[in-house]
Amino acid sequence: AIQRYRDPGAGDKMNPFAEQEAWEEHQIGKATLKFGSKDKKQAADDYQYVFEDGIDFIKESVMDGIQDEGEMPAESPDASSAKSMLQDERKLLPIYPYREELLQAVNDHQVIVIVGETGSGKTTQIPQYLHEAGYTKRGKVGCTQPRRVAAMSVSARVAQEMGVKLGHEVGYSIRFEDCTSEKTVLKYMTDGMLLREFLGEPDLASYSVVMVDEAHERTLSTDILFGLVKDIARFRKDLKLLISSATLDAEKFSDYFDSAPIFKIPGRRYPVDIHFTTAPEADYIDAAIVTVLQIHVTQPPGDILVFLTGQEEIETIDEILKHRTRGLGTKIAELIICPIYANLPTELQAKIFEPTPEGARKVVLATNIAETSLTIDGIKYVIDPGFCKIKSYNPRTGMESLLVNPISKASAMQRAGRSGRTGPGKCFRLYTAYNYHHDLEDNTVPEIQRTNLANVVLSLKSLGIHDLVNFDFMDPPPSEALLKALEQLFALSALNSRGELTKVGRRMAEFPLDPMLSKMIVASEKYKCSDEVISIAAMLSVGNSIFYRPKDKQVHADNARKNFHSGFVGDHIALLNVYNHWKETDFSTQWCYENYIQVRSMKRARDIRDQLEGLLERVEIEVTSNLSDLDAIKKAMTSGFFHHSAKLQKSGAYRTVKNPQTVHIHPSSGLAEVHPRWVIYHELVLTTKEYMRQVTELKPDWLVEIAPHYYQLKDVEDSGTKKLPRGEGRAEMTQ
Ligand code: CDP
Ligand code: MG
Repeated sequence: AIQRYRDPGAGDKMNPFAEQEAWEEHQIGKATLKFGSKDKKQAADDYQYVFEDGIDFIKESVMDGIQDEGEMPAESPDASSAKSMLQDERKLLPIYPYREELLQAVNDHQVIVIVGETGSGKTTQIPQYLHEAGYTKRGKVGCTQPRRVAAMSVSARVAQEMGVKLGHEVGYSIRFEDCTSEKTVLKYMTDGMLLREFLGEPDLASYSVVMVDEAHERTLSTDILFGLVKDIARFRKDLKLLISSATLDAEKFSDYFDSAPIFKIPGRRYPVDIHFTTAPEADYIDAAIVTVLQIHVTQPPGDILVFLTGQEEIETIDEILKHRTRGLGTKIAELIICPIYANLPTELQAKIFEPTPEGARKVVLATNIAETSLTIDGIKYVIDPGFCKIKSYNPRTGMESLLVNPISKASAMQRAGRSGRTGPGKCFRLYTAYNYHHDLEDNTVPEIQRTNLANVVLSLKSLGIHDLVNFDFMDPPPSEALLKALEQLFALSALNSRGELTKVGRRMAEFPLDPMLSKMIVASEKYKCSDEVISIAAMLSVGNSIFYRPKDKQVHADNARKNFHSGFVGDHIALLNVYNHWKETDFSTQWCYENYIQVRSMKRARDIRDQLEGLLERVEIEVTSNLSDLDAIKKAMTSGFFHHSAKLQKSGAYRTVKNPQTVHIHPSSGLAEVHPRWVIYHELVLTTKEYMRQVTELKPDWLVEIAPHYYQLKDVEDSGTKKLPRGEGRAEMTQ
């Protein structure tokens, strides 16, 4: 693997700025101008002004592209109105000359595989072409995206192009957010949402066309969709299927869909210079920041796109870049920093698509979403640290972690290609050519082969698909993982011993959540605390963006946060406290500010909670509150999360109870300093150590009481307390 490995989520995450001092020191060194091309002297001056030390890059190769810059007009032709201007822009897209041919192909074949370079217009144009050709008279055109942000932003663009209000003719549907109406004929959605639609409409009768877009991403949901749509296409001859992809897996898709024809949209891309670092970089965050500034002061105009692994990392770099450029005054051109990641609120997402003002430079800090799902115009420079966050799963232990991993060569090529869309580009890889050639895999392993399948198995079971081993997977998951999922669902009482869905399982399947969360909600009926439990589930679903910790007010932020933890109630109850306090203030924004809570995250939690409440009604669970009995709430949580139990060791670390593994309480936890003997946790994150995130204290007896088929008394016997002599007392109680 690549040597440079930085930990973006671990202990130091508590203080993202711990890095900063080190970085400033790092600048003290000899001044060298590493790459330049604008006015050499001016660049050199600016450079000296900003840097003492930079990064060495060497150009290794050039990615092919068209040479003739005249072919693609940079500006769209004059137009009288915004709408007709957009209509003219549509005609400039690479896909446009193939419109008729494509429609003919759709007419002639039931299934087509479509391949085209990112930005050629597949996602925004094909559904519109189908609409214009009358397909929407027979049913909706659905287009799936692996990512929420892409579904939202692309549908907004298409609504704009069609001159309609988003949510009317053109809409989107993502988990916990449905922006569609009766009128909607072009529906963009996450692949996971279409999967859920199968539950209500197993033949997708309301659709005339389904386009599985970004198929190359091979997300878990996309892979399952393949099997399901292939199946329904057999008896719904009127349903058209389009499988579209940005990369060259086309043959594989075609083979899978019974030799479906492949429709290639010739790409238009300018050449891209590929640069590598001459030596491995110790810290890619640091290297990325230096490279942004290096480009900014030495390179001609053109926006920069940096690929990062997640929100936290993006926020860190955002802050540091702002801090760094603030001191530069007017000597250096303005640098506009635009973050983009899945949880970024919609109103801020639009910023990345706004044209960069004259004289300024935009730097887009993006997750993998910008690799193929989103096209950002004007990018001339790509910085590729070579990492992405990837879920990995160990079917033996049943443990799932989010890991920062090196990307594949295919990803690296996609990333580089983003810089050559509107003119010749440059890609700066923050790793060496040797790393690239020797350490990177050719392709990313499909998610289905590295994830917990419990969710999918539950969905498939509720679709009536029982024979999972013979399900038509494009790449089958490891049988171990499938087995583990069945075991887990059995332990959660979602399946009976014959592998059939139980009443609990059927109820669980109604919730668009991980089975452990759904189980916790279903179990809340028994403990009469559904009101509290859906709040907790909603808060957990928002992710780790509830609390915020500005650099200059860390102490205040930490104190505010401690208030919610008083009595060491554990992180789950603390989240509940946050929600309830906010509710008491009538959802006050001011209150959020005062308590260092992200108001946007809270609003999202409220939306999610509303929907969960609706779903409770659907599965006929009454909303009951039992706030005075925290143990009842914790027991409901344990009913879902008993797999995630851990016990304190003498060393101060924890060990998971089943499949023993050493883990630690995440420093952001309210229990980090308390070290309760027994805990359950929401998730594990592996950074420098294996951390448990969102931790609550547990009474070990609960495990046996709640999951007797999974835990025996011997599992929860406290070795710390005095052992009773053999044959007496406790030991006999297992009988
Ligand atoms: O799907 P594909 O990568 O082939 O292209 P697309 O997403 O349909 O993008 C086609 C063009 O639409 C891009 O070049 C962008 O200029 C524009 N677009 C946009 O301006 N705003 C969006 N949210 C999405 C696309
Ligand atoms: Mg697309």
